[in-house]
Amino acid sequence: MAGEKTGGASYHAAVAAEPAAPPVESDAVARTDPRWLFGYGSLIFRPAIPFVERRRARAPGWSRRFWQWSTDHRGEPWRPGRVVTLAPAPGDGCWGIAYRLAEADADAILADLDVRERGGYVRLEIELELHAPARQGADTSAASPRVVAGLTYQGWPGNRNYAGPAPLAEIAGQVMRGTGPSGANADYVRDLDTALRALGMEDTHVAALAARLEE
Ligand code: SIN
Repeated sequence: MAGEKTGGASYHAAVAAEPAAPPVESDAVARTDPRWLFGYGSLIFRPAIPFVERRRARAPGWSRRFWQWSTDHRGEPWRPGRVVTLAPAPGDGCWGIAYRLAEADADAILADLDVRERGGYVRLEIELELHAPARQGADTSAASPRVVAGLTYQGWPGNRNYAGPAPLAEIAGQVMRGTGPSGANADYVRDLDTALRALGMEDTHVAALAARLEE
């Protein structure tokens, strides 16, 4: 999230302006293609990377949780904020956006993301179900998703910034106090919640935290 700024409004304007059908698709991509990058947090509402196409995607077996400390973007080392990571969750699934990176650019993009996501995240190969093109109001129930092996950034339990579970009220308090070079921690939560809703993939954990911040 290096240099991350909240860019929700412009991102949503861009999403809303997207054509209904993607210019490139389907059979061109092999079943296992590491150029598919899965974003489930700030990479949804502020990707800030070049990509060839993006698709709504589901990562089976994972849940999105505010279980990662942020000491470099949405908090400071002495007062960390909370950001999302993927927690193993058999039977569940995490909705997000899969970006297809141009082969020639992929290494450079991932090197930049290694810096942005340096706060405890590591690259992880992950199974992804690719669904409809990413645009507002799309149907999340589309049949027969294509399954690929993509990459994501994940903060494993035990990484140096792992915060782990806590009661919602405690997480909300930490978020309210968190602020860092990329902005207020509360804006991260609100921007993520807004983006997920706009894409038709509301997440109960994110929504509950966003609602708690308004109380
Ligand atoms: C992601 O967005 O996919 C990773 C977590 C974050 O940067 O918020």
